[in-house]
Amino acid sequence: MCGIVAYFGKKPAQPILIEGLKRLEYRGYDSAGIALLKNGRFDIYKTPGRISNLEDILPPEDLQATVGIGHTRWATHGEPNTVNAHPHLDDTGKIVLVHNGIIENYASLKKWLIKEGCQFRSQTDTEVVANLIGYFYEKNCARDGQNAPKDRNRFEWAVQEALTEVHGTYGLAIMCLDCPNVMIGVKKGSPLILGVGENEYVIASDAAAIIEHTSQAVYLSDNEMVFVTEGGFETKTVTNIEVRKELSEIEISLDQIELEGFDHYMQKEIAEQPQVLETCLNGRVDVKNGRVILGGIQNQFRILARTKRVIMAACGTAWHAGLVGEFLFEQLARIPTEVEYASEFRYRNPILEEGTIFIAISQSGETADTLAAVEQAKERGATVLGIVNVVGSTIARTTDAGVYLRVGPEIGVASTKAFTAQVAVLAMLAIELGRRRHLGADAAQYLLRELMQIPQKVRRIMAQSDHIRRIAQANIDRENWLFLGRGLNYPVALEGALKLKEISYIHAEGLPAAEMKHGPIALITDRMPAVFIATKCSHYEKIIGNIEEVRARGGKTIIIATEGDDHIRQYADHLITVPDTVEQLQPMLTVVPLQMLAYHAAVVRGHDVDKPRNLAKSVTVE
Ligand code: G6P
Repeated sequence: MCGIVAYFGKKPAQPILIEGLKRLEYRGYDSAGIALLKNGRFDIYKTPGRISNLEDILPPEDLQATVGIGHTRWATHGEPNTVNAHPHLDDTGKIVLVHNGIIENYASLKKWLIKEGCQFRSQTDTEVVANLIGYFYEKNCARDGQNAPKDRNRFEWAVQEALTEVHGTYGLAIMCLDCPNVMIGVKKGSPLILGVGENEYVIASDAAAIIEHTSQAVYLSDNEMVFVTEGGFETKTVTNIEVRKELSEIEISLDQIELEGFDHYMQKEIAEQPQVLETCLNGRVDVKNGRVILGGIQNQFRILARTKRVIMAACGTAWHAGLVGEFLFEQLARIPTEVEYASEFRYRNPILEEGTIFIAISQSGETADTLAAVEQAKERGATVLGIVNVVGSTIARTTDAGVYLRVGPEIGVASTKAFTAQVAVLAMLAIELGRRRHLGADAAQYLLRELMQIPQKVRRIMAQSDHIRRIAQANIDRENWLFLGRGLNYPVALEGALKLKEISYIHAEGLPAAEMKHGPIALITDRMPAVFIATKCSHYEKIIGNIEEVRARGGKTIIIATEGDDHIRQYADHLITVPDTVEQLQPMLTVVPLQMLAYHAAVVRGHDVDKPRNLAKSVTVE
């Protein structure tokens, strides 16, 4: 949520910042801006809308600047217009910065700064930080005498002093006009990575903006600052204690973040699922012995298997994966499991008895609400595990241990491949835990054999893309949809509805199929498509009953059924089939046509699939 990129080196900064912002655009895209430091002045360009709008207003002569900062915004305070776009200057014009996060006490700080004589131009919380740093910088200069050299220490102190006053979250890249040879990056609660190249540095919110320049990076922790100069970089805490940081290898490659012939990232990521699921499972599943090996948590399995209770917390699509996980943990491992919205978890003063295992599920590993839940669970003494995709992300580093999804970068705002991999990881965990409790070897072998077949079966579903597009087209003028499933396919119904809402802006509700008759059935007309997930499973007969109820009221049905199920055809206005598999693993198959349905509906409606209205990929504000 909001993307930051900053360049300090010898090459023209402008194209590097623009390229970096394009790579981060999925984090927010309502306005954008850059500030370039050149000939003793800041040149600032800002505009509402996309990075392409920003490109339109950039003059070519700014290719001379070799230092600069850039930002793509997802508005929190103040509408997305030019004034509110970042970078923000302080009142004196000496400090300029870009910010990702929220300054919670900005209103009181602003009041105080205004009393001190500061002027504000924008409605943002960010401008308060710029002015606060500017205020302390001027104070330091005044104390040392106006003729004293404007050295780096004053800038550094000003940033440190300002941040002690600030409550909230921030990833910041900051420049000072008096100190053109230093750039500061600092973070708390929002991600910030320093890419270390040869005589050049890129500070960014995520690795996608760095990888083109270098694969060496330093992942900053909360309350750490980095000082980049021509001579190298230094890291310390905001309380001025030096910290030594290791260089890490960024694990993503450039081709993973390119479209590679697809029209949209979402389309690419749906299509990638067979291959990335193979990567997720390979080397982890030992079918012969009915066991699972998950390196990151192998040492925790004994504790996990003895636990009396598991709590999972997540947001959005990851929460739906958690709901599937709840079924799997309870059915296969017989461990009582609850799934919480991460955003609600902390407000309940949660009870975490001794021995509770807490599992955070997050694609990005940066979702602020999930991170806050992780911190709370840790404070209360739980063992905290993560199921995370982005290597080195904050949640991955904050949890005690975890499992990576290994699906590569997910860029489309609507999550797809992360969901199927989250379910695959939860299935592996549930089977191994079951095995360590009371699941027989034969049952585990059978489940794992089926699990290894899933990528191949997902591949078969892809062949129905045109058929699914026609279904989307036939229903495109319908503004309200229902998605209905039972058991393990109820979370899939929720996910199908979320996908459609996110990118098509069609109102959709996901429900347990049997709940329909307790209210939502009143909505059924021939204008409301009802999507049923009615695969061969233990609820098959019951869900056929629910389909009949809809049809009896003139409702139109789109049915996701098992290949070869001829009986169900008579109930379907539109039929989509998925290969058969064991009931516990069906969500990894049944969700795929729903992802495709949402994708095609959005394309047919002419929407920007990868940048849906008002959304952002990585929600780093609470
Ligand atoms: C945002 C995204 C969703 C995602 C959710 C949780 O809302 O648009 O696609 O499911 O955040 O994100 P996480 O990175 O924690 O899985």
